[in-house]
Amino acid sequence: MTSAIKVSNLHVTIEGSHVLQGVSLDVPNGGVTALLGRNGVGKTTTLKALLGLVPSTGDVAIMGRDVRGWPTHRIVNLGVGYVPEDRDVFAGLTVEENLRLAERSAAPRYDDVFSLFPELRERARQRAGTLSGGQQQMVSIARAMLNGWPLLLIDEPSKGLAPRLVSELAEVLERVAQLATVLLVEQNLAVVKRLAQRVVVLDHGEVVHEGDPSELDDPLVARRFLGVAGAS
Ligand SMILES: Nc1ncnc2c1ncn2[C@@H]1O[C@H](COP(=O)(O)OP(=O)(O)O)[C@@H](O)[C@H]1O
Ligand SMILES: [Mg+2]
Repeated sequence: MTSAIKVSNLHVTIEGSHVLQGVSLDVPNGGVTALLGRNGVGKTTTLKALLGLVPSTGDVAIMGRDVRGWPTHRIVNLGVGYVPEDRDVFAGLTVEENLRLAERSAAPRYDDVFSLFPELRERARQRAGTLSGGQQQMVSIARAMLNGWPLLLIDEPSKGLAPRLVSELAEVLERVAQLATVLLVEQNLAVVKRLAQRVVVLDHGEVVHEGDPSELDDPLVARRFLGVAGAS
């Protein structure tokens, strides 16, 4: 079966700095693949390169299509949703307006989105800037899911959320992953272990480890790759 994403030898240079130095990774169809690594190792840059948002060299296939040199809109239209780091909702617009701006088809999946996020239906008229961080994250994920696309790239969704909200988010992402293949950048190892079937660890712009999330149970492995003592 073709992979959802297949990357080989991806290089990105930003302002003279060689940020990705030959990243190769494979995201199988279905479920969650987690992309891990310390701050600044190139996780966000990897997602942006997949979307054609930063210039890169190397081979990228998305859902079996060779997308080298494709402009972003064409890649997105293969069916790729993006939830950026720091959420980036339109603060001055209502929840409903944020969602409407994300519509890319004549048949947006409001039923799916509101069954995943009932609270967003209740808050449809509320300005997104007045929502909590957790609620804004839900809007951001809902936008990416609205078109029923098969692949979602989600960048550090738990960042800055209170622990109680992190577990709510993990529950939602578990359901999201039943509807789409997810490439998830995530620093919270408990979330990774709960959701991911596969982890890819980046360090200094290269993949240094790929495997089963349970391998991160070993604090030495977790510390070596991530600079943390493991999940609790
Ligand atoms: N627009 C940019 N301008 C300059 N440097 C950047 C830019 N984007 C990323 N970088 C650098 O690239 C490296 C990787 O960044 P990033 O992909 O955001 O890492 P991560 O998401 O893993 O924390 C960092 O050293 C960062 O400073
Ligand atoms: Mg990042």
